Parts: sequence; C-alpha cells; structure tokens
Amino acid sequence: MEQINIYSGKKAVSRIVTGDTITGLEACLQPYRSVFAIVDRNVAEKCPAAATLMEILKRSKVKVRFIDSSEQTKTLESVMDICAWLLDNNADRDALLLAAGGGITTDMAGFAACIYKRGVRFAYVPTTLLSQVDAAIGGKTGVNFDRYKNILGIIRQPAFTYICPQMLESLPKRDFLSGVAEMLKTFVIEDNGNYQKAADLFFDIQSEFHVEVMMYGKDEESVWKGLLQKHRKSLNQLIAAAARVKAGVVSRDQFEKDERRKLNLGHTFAHAIETLAQKEVLARQDSSIDGLSAEDLHFPDGVTHGEAVAIGMVLAARLADRYYRNDSNETTALEAKISNDLWDCDIPCYCPYSIEELAAIMKKDKKAEGDRIHFVLPRSIGEVETVELTLEDVCILMK
Ligand code: GLY
Repeated sequence: MEQINIYSGKKAVSRIVTGDTITGLEACLQPYRSVFAIVDRNVAEKCPAAATLMEILKRSKVKVRFIDSSEQTKTLESVMDICAWLLDNNADRDALLLAAGGGITTDMAGFAACIYKRGVRFAYVPTTLLSQVDAAIGGKTGVNFDRYKNILGIIRQPAFTYICPQMLESLPKRDFLSGVAEMLKTFVIEDNGNYQKAADLFFDIQSEFHVEVMMYGKDEESVWKGLLQKHRKSLNQLIAAAARVKAGVVSRDQFEKDERRKLNLGHTFAHAIETLAQKEVLARQDSSIDGLSAEDLHFPDGVTHGEAVAIGMVLAARLADRYYRNDSNETTALEAKISNDLWDCDIPCYCPYSIEELAAIMKKDKKAEGDRIHFVLPRSIGEVETVELTLEDVCILMK
C-alpha cells in the first residue's frame, strides 16, 4: 500500500491510500467509531469486488444505503435524502460518511457530509478510473442545479480516499477510456515522463484488443477484462502517478485561486460540449420538434465526461498553438500530437460544434469573470499556463 498526502500548509489534511485489493480498506476504517456508507447500487450489483467490500462494511458495523447515481439525480434533493437518512439513523458529529461509487456518488455524498450537522468527516472508495485519478481527489463536492453542472458545492477534503484497481473490474470499456482521457489530461499538466507511458500503454492495450476481437472474434468484454489484468501493474503505477500530480497541485492551491485552475485543462470547452450534446437529446425527446432522429444527433450515444474532456483538450491545444506560436495550420502541431494519441487509445476527440456555438454556452460558464474566461493552455506536454481571454479573442484565434 502506498500513501499520498494532501497538505494544507504543512499539515496533512487528506490521505490517498492505494492498495492492490479492497481488503486494505478495513484498516482505514478502524479508527472510526461510527461509519455510514453510501454505495452506488450499480457497483454493488456488478462489481465482483463489491462482495468483499460489503463484507468489510458488515464486519466494521457500517450502516449502508444504496443509491442510484446519474447526472439527473445529482441534485440537492438527493443530498437531502442522504442527510435525512443520516438523521434517521442518529449519525452524530463524530460520524464518518463513506461513499463508494463514481464521481457523482462521491460528489453528492461528500456534499451531504459537508452540510450535515455543519460538517462531518467523509471518505471515498472511487470505483471508476475517472474518479480514481480526478473526481475523488482534491475535495470538490457538489451537485447540478438549474441546468448547470456542479454549480452548488463546497471544497473540503475527505479524510481518506482508498484507491483500488479491483473496483474497476466491471467498468465498461467506454467508461474506462473516459478515465484514461482525464489521466492523459493530468500528464499534459505535469508530465514526469508519464504522458507518453500512458499513451503507449493504452495504444498497446487497444491494438491487442482489436487483434483479439476483430481477428479472432473473441468476446469484447472478456478480452478487455483480460487485458486490464495483464497490464495491471503498469496501470496501477499510472493511476498512482496521476493521483500524486493532483495531490501536489491541490496541496499548493486547495481553493483554486491560482495553480489548481490548471486541472481544468479542456474543461471549459468540455462543459459546453456536454451542454450542447444534452440539449440535442432533450430536443429529440421534445415531441413538438418534428423530424429529429438519432441520426441527426452529433452524439447519438451521448458523450461521456472523459470524451468531452478529450475534445476540450484538443481544442485547448489548437488555441495554445494559435496563441503562442501563431500556428495557422488547420490542424496545429500540438493539436495533432494530442488528438493522434487520443485516437490511438480509441478515445474520440473530434468536435462537431462551431466555436461560435461553444462560445455561446461558455459565456454562461460559472468560471467566467466579467467578459473574460480563464483558459488553460498547454504550451507543450507537461507545461500548461492559465490565461484570461475574452470569448471574442477565442473565436478569432480558433477560426
Ligand atoms: N477536477 C478538477 C479539480 O478537482 O480541480
């Protein structure tokens, strides 16, 4: 087991514990007298390691509540449900609220813990790659409100985050790759040689996957699982490396006054892409709009957060090339590098929307300050900078 600390000044305020199996969680729970757990029902039903997780919770006398997590249920009402359950079960100020699930579950449970009785301790067992490398680290909690993602929330650090690759065993390939996009994003911010290692690893996994499935006609799901098992060691090293990068950034700037903004690389574009994709889906569901079919949607299967971040990162690379180097090529150099690496990992990163369509949404982004927005621009792999630009500047540069 490895421990990575998050600091506030010199004081360690949160621990990230990485363990090969879920059994290590039991020792992490030992110091707590009264533990309550919110567990994503999907994880409990589908993840093979969840049986061991549930045994640990039972042995540790933890009260458990299962929840269904989705962007639609990431609401204040769900947070209030968690608070009501804590109240019904007499959780006192000494309680620890443990959340096992993806980023939606941990964000909601974390938020509930922050406001219940003015704040109780909380901890996470992230069960998606995306939450292991990003969402469950750094203390951002919150819910969606009034059509805006994560617009209500608090930054407060979990007591610990237990990261275990066993919890990823039932993760579908597409969701896994969503996490790979966030991992690559982390290494574009701070490299230490890990960006290329990750790009190469997932290129290899992808190539092996295609050979097994396309050439030998093997079952996709079992081939994918087998490949993750085979490359487990390298994968674990990369997950820990990404966690270390994020822990370092958060330790230096917990409340996102400065350096932490870097972690939003690609996200300003990504949020706009997610909003536009969602609008299309809603328009299709609206029976008053005739003639719209799945084929008319730019993302007929929706867009995952990681896919949106991948597209956003490619757009940020283009913006950076134009901003720093006056690169007027249709596809700029850094953009080509990042998008090729993403494609090689089977992460789609083509943006179907015009810059004007994106700008209209970004205008309402919660990170906008006056008419300027912070954009995180990659100067190169491993070096990013936050610059303030108007949307007019961005539209001109991206044309
Ligand atoms: N996901 C970006 C951050 O935690 O700051």
